[in-house]
Amino acid sequence: MKTFHVALTGDHLDEQGIFRHSTEGSLALLNLPYIDTRFVLSQAPRADDPGYWDRIYSLQTTAEDIAGVHCLVVLRPWIKASTFANGAADLTVIARSGVGYDKIDIESCTANDVAVFNAPVALHLSTASSALMFMLALAKRLPDQERITRAGRWDLQASVTGMELQGHTLGIVGLGASGRELVRLVAPFAMNVIAHSPHADAAQAAALGVQLTSLDAVFQQSDFISLHASLTPDKVGMIGAQHFAQMKPTAYFINVARGELVDQVALVDTLRARRIAGAGLDVYEVEPLPKDDPLIALDNVILTPHWSPATADVGRLTGRSIFGGVAKAARGEIPDYVINTDVLERPGFRRKLERFAENA
Ligand code: GLV
Repeated sequence: MKTFHVALTGDHLDEQGIFRHSTEGSLALLNLPYIDTRFVLSQAPRADDPGYWDRIYSLQTTAEDIAGVHCLVVLRPWIKASTFANGAADLTVIARSGVGYDKIDIESCTANDVAVFNAPVALHLSTASSALMFMLALAKRLPDQERITRAGRWDLQASVTGMELQGHTLGIVGLGASGRELVRLVAPFAMNVIAHSPHADAAQAAALGVQLTSLDAVFQQSDFISLHASLTPDKVGMIGAQHFAQMKPTAYFINVARGELVDQVALVDTLRARRIAGAGLDVYEVEPLPKDDPLIALDNVILTPHWSPATADVGRLTGRSIFGGVAKAARGEIPDYVINTDVLERPGFRRKLERFAENA
């Protein structure tokens, strides 16, 4: 038996040191005699540190944090080249508890013979259903209708008239798994679906009934635009003032992908000037969204805290997927959904993983 040391980033814990994330139920998959589990306490919240939640998306993983760790389960903290300042003699796999891995320096992981895997399947449907939720809430003017009802202003009924999705155009940016899932979800609404996705398979898009087109055409023609692109350095700020300027004044903009894809100043200007009908956002250029951010004062945008897709059901599925992958690595097996597949052939990685084959 060879002990497999697993560390979960400290942001899985609450101020009382209790594992409060919705993946918690699946941690039992690691109740095996050869697996030892702990938390990176230097990253955990403390009752005497009220600024912790303002720093939550800038937490780092240091070289000390990974010393003696064979598997790191990461929720929010960064994994940078500096994480490997002392190499990675022990670290064999990183499990990203979610789908996006833009805060993990994948090249450094590969160079240090560390495989990175995520839990993509659990989040695709939920990310798409959050986009659909924003589409319906915006189309039906949910925040405005709520506001007038609470204010007893039934005389304003006509001023909060919404629209249907039927017969309107949905433009998807990024026809990956969650983008395709959204196509499936809107099928009963008989929308005209177009998409911009440079790497999309044209035959697959056609089979889904989606017309692939340019980014400009998506912004010009759509009544709802939903972002589903992954964040890579070349896509930072890919949606800017020139795109918002092309939108119909009646159109809505939705981002459930990554805030950094969008020039947020340009979006705020567009919303403030009411040049489009509104927006629904789960993600922001800076997270947490600063309390004095101009978006907060606008009444034509619905805001959620990078948590809309993260439902309890998704947490359960993510936990099962991630901890199932950890258990595989603890037996010397390759987990599912490895992102940097080129690491799998590297002798250094294979040597590290094979040390645990005796646990099988
Ligand atoms: C959430 O945004 C994720 O990428 O898991």
